[in-house]
Amino acid sequence: MAERAVTNKIVPLANKLQPESFLELGTLRGDNFRAIRCPRKVSVDINDHGTFKGTTDKFFARNKARFDVVFIDACHDIEFALRDWNNAIKVADRLIVLHDMVPPTAAFLQRNKCSNAYLLLNALIDADVEHRTLDQDCGLTVVLAEHFREFTSPLQLISYQEFMPKVQVCPFQRLVAYAGKGFL
Ligand SMILES: C[S@@+](CC[C@H](N)C(=O)[O-])C[C@H]1O[C@@H](n2cnc3c(N)ncnc32)[C@H](O)[C@@H]1O
Repeated sequence: MAERAVTNKIVPLANKLQPESFLELGTLRGDNFRAIRCPRKVSVDINDHGTFKGTTDKFFARNKARFDVVFIDACHDIEFALRDWNNAIKVADRLIVLHDMVPPTAAFLQRNKCSNAYLLLNALIDADVEHRTLDQDCGLTVVLAEHFREFTSPLQLISYQEFMPKVQVCPFQRLVAYAGKGFL
């Protein structure tokens, strides 16, 4: 997975799904967000590029809207990623896409990269929550709304070395086909 770690797949995935509404948590400069074709888009960031400027916690405290797709890609420290997940499941109608669930190498465990957000995928695996994880783009992961469940903090800790053999990945076409079921 390492050599294709930075290939970005949220744009082609979202544009194939054609959601009516899309929420991106963590938008950086907004390049991917702008490339996603969708009639109602909201992005959240603590920098100046979000359509909502502030933390994801602040956004969820004020938000009353619902979204077909929520893309979680803000702070990857597990306590933040878990809060984003638990908030997102309350407003996502079709599916959630999670970024940085599979650090391609241990070097990606740095806080400014994937950090320890993989503990959320580990919780999904341990709880038998159905999902699909891409074989690239740091393990972009899709969970359909019918499988959402809340997790309580703290999640079980597991080392990166113990976690990696538990991960099953699929190619992009299969991820798209699976995500499409959320739009039937
Ligand atoms: C990995 S980047 C997002 C990349 C973007 N989704 C893309 O596809 O290009 C993570 C972003 O999350 C933002 N961020 C970090 N912690 C945050 C928080 N608590 N609330 C909102 N945004 C946060 C950072 O400012 C950064 O721009």
